[in-house]
Amino acid sequence: MERSLVIIKPDGTIRRRVSALVLKALLDKGYKIRAFREMKVPKSLAKLHYAVHKEKPFFPWLVDFISSAPVLTMIFEGPNVIQGVRDTLGATFVQKADPTSLRGKYGIWAGVNIAHASDAPETAEKEIELWTWEGGLVESSDAEEQAREYIEKYSSGEADYTMEIRSVVKKAIENHDTSDNVLQSLIQLLGKDSKGIAAEEINALALAIFDFVKEEVGKS
Ligand code: RTP
Ligand code: MG
Repeated sequence: MERSLVIIKPDGTIRRRVSALVLKALLDKGYKIRAFREMKVPKSLAKLHYAVHKEKPFFPWLVDFISSAPVLTMIFEGPNVIQGVRDTLGATFVQKADPTSLRGKYGIWAGVNIAHASDAPETAEKEIELWTWEGGLVESSDAEEQAREYIEKYSSGEADYTMEIRSVVKKAIENHDTSDNVLQSLIQLLGKDSKGIAAEEINALALAIFDFVKEEVGKS
């Protein structure tokens, strides 16, 4: 039996219905949830979690992004759960992900890609240990019930602003637009379905996405 550490990143969690739909799609695959925690990621934990990428140019951005607003951290369990979750998420970069995959459907752009999932049994066990000791993740018999309650609470209605947010980001990059209007549009759209998320957290995530836009504009 395999386990995987799965995180719905801030761009997923802040959009409540999108995170509920992502969670539901993963549970519908038949995996069990052994731990479930909504939490804000301390920068120290973000740096340890992504330590494998610490020499990459995008590392400081990645740490800011994952710690900008709350995430859902979970332990999934089941046969071949590691590859199964990664296949369901799709390719790392949203524009390369199959449109039917979860990142293809709900990801925003490039690495703003709604979820993390462990990539091998050894890394999964290391990540589970890290998030248990540094992230307060606790295995419990009612974890799956908590996940189902989350889905029940947030999955109804129509709210899904993925295409609008994607369009703001794509257009800004294409038009080399790094004006405050872009940031304000991101704040407004990210806040539309963000029950229980503080305004400063919405702003922090919008700023992380805006920083990515500025980086891309600077490259072209
Ligand atoms: P994850 O670890 O989050 O599940 O994603 P992954 O295995 O599919 O991708 P990985 O290579 O481990 O990268 C970790 C996260 O870093 C961001 N990233 N940005 N700007 C870039 O070139 C770049 N490359 C990676 C993404 O958020 C990616 O999920
Ligand atoms: Mg990875």
